[in-house]
Amino acid sequence: MRLAARMQSIGTETAFEAAARARALEADGRDIIHLEIGEPDFDTPAHVREAAKRALDAGATHYAPFAGIPELRATIAEDAAARKAFAVDPSQVFVTVGGKGVMVYAILGLIDPGDEVIVPDPGYPIYASLTSFVGATPVPLPIRQEHEFRLDVEELESLVTPRTRMLVVNSPANPTGGVLTRGDVERIGELAVRHDLVVLADEIYARILYDGAEHVSLASLPGMAERTIVLDGFSKTFAMTGWRLGYAIVPPSLVQAYGTLIINTVSCAPTFVQVGAVEALRGPQDDVEAMVEEFRVRRDLVVDGLNAIPGVQCATPRGAFYAFPHIGGTGLSGAELADRLLTETGVCVLAGTAFGGLGTEHVRISYANSRDNLTEALRRIDAFVRQHAPAPAPA
Ligand SMILES: Cc1ncc(COP(=O)(O)O)c(C=O)c1O
Repeated sequence: MRLAARMQSIGTETAFEAAARARALEADGRDIIHLEIGEPDFDTPAHVREAAKRALDAGATHYAPFAGIPELRATIAEDAAARKAFAVDPSQVFVTVGGKGVMVYAILGLIDPGDEVIVPDPGYPIYASLTSFVGATPVPLPIRQEHEFRLDVEELESLVTPRTRMLVVNSPANPTGGVLTRGDVERIGELAVRHDLVVLADEIYARILYDGAEHVSLASLPGMAERTIVLDGFSKTFAMTGWRLGYAIVPPSLVQAYGTLIINTVSCAPTFVQVGAVEALRGPQDDVEAMVEEFRVRRDLVVDGLNAIPGVQCATPRGAFYAFPHIGGTGLSGAELADRLLTETGVCVLAGTAFGGLGTEHVRISYANSRDNLTEALRRIDAFVRQHAPAPAPA
């Protein structure tokens, strides 16, 4: 069948494809360790599941209001005001199907053909994919390991042109685990105001932070609440990826547009799922804290293990649950290493290029897996690199 021309401009999220390939190998009897997909391996906290089950039995099986059930919008507004440190009225909160919904609406609603959107490279691939899909140009902003995977504000400024409409900022970041400092965020805010940019602030990993790192929401800075769309959600913080629930906090000027886009696409997010989400935010938070502490232990295991492999250099991530090691010293590209690790050792990781051109010499490893599996994966990667990787060229 003939596809619409715009389908030539859309990208994808390789994690889902890699996972399918790994599962196909598994179905053939291969023993696979999955380090490709970005989701907590923990179960959704029991009190959240119970709340959703009760809601189902109580009849929360009908359409919800398009923006979300009032109780959840009010709870998100309260939680965001406290954690993100800016005033949020419930009317600015839109409950979406996944955090991904927030980015779809931001780009559909604000970006015209010919506009430029500055996106992190490496970064979550859907920002650039959707930008191209609407006929605009994604402009990659290099995020470098030597700069602790924080964006360089001067480099960012050099990419702004009269066509720049939107800047996407993701901290803590997928795939690097980089976290912006308060100083970084302040300078980005000043730049956005100076150049009159809209900011999509993807804060979906805001509560997965280590070593006392602080989360500073871009929307909390002077002049930013009126130009920032905050993307957050339940997938990562509460191990609720399969519930498909995220939220946007938008400036009052975008309330009408977000409502219209939701009505035109999904009508509303599932009703009983939203009741579960109220419990996630209002109920005990110890499961979240325990999960983050466990991620920290695994992070250290993975970073130490990777740095012991010849030709591999891994920076210490300060947030999220990904490591993004530089593997150039093995003599293989990230794509070759990812492919050979899967087929020859049964360890599934993602090529860094899944996140942009700057990821060529990297792979992404999700450490949302058990310590035992991570230890075994590191053993296999180490053995593979020592045996098979071509020796680096002499200096
Ligand atoms: C940076 C980033 N933003 C947004 C999302 C989407 O989250 P959700 O599963 O809630 O749609 C992800 C998921 O991997 C992500 O890594």
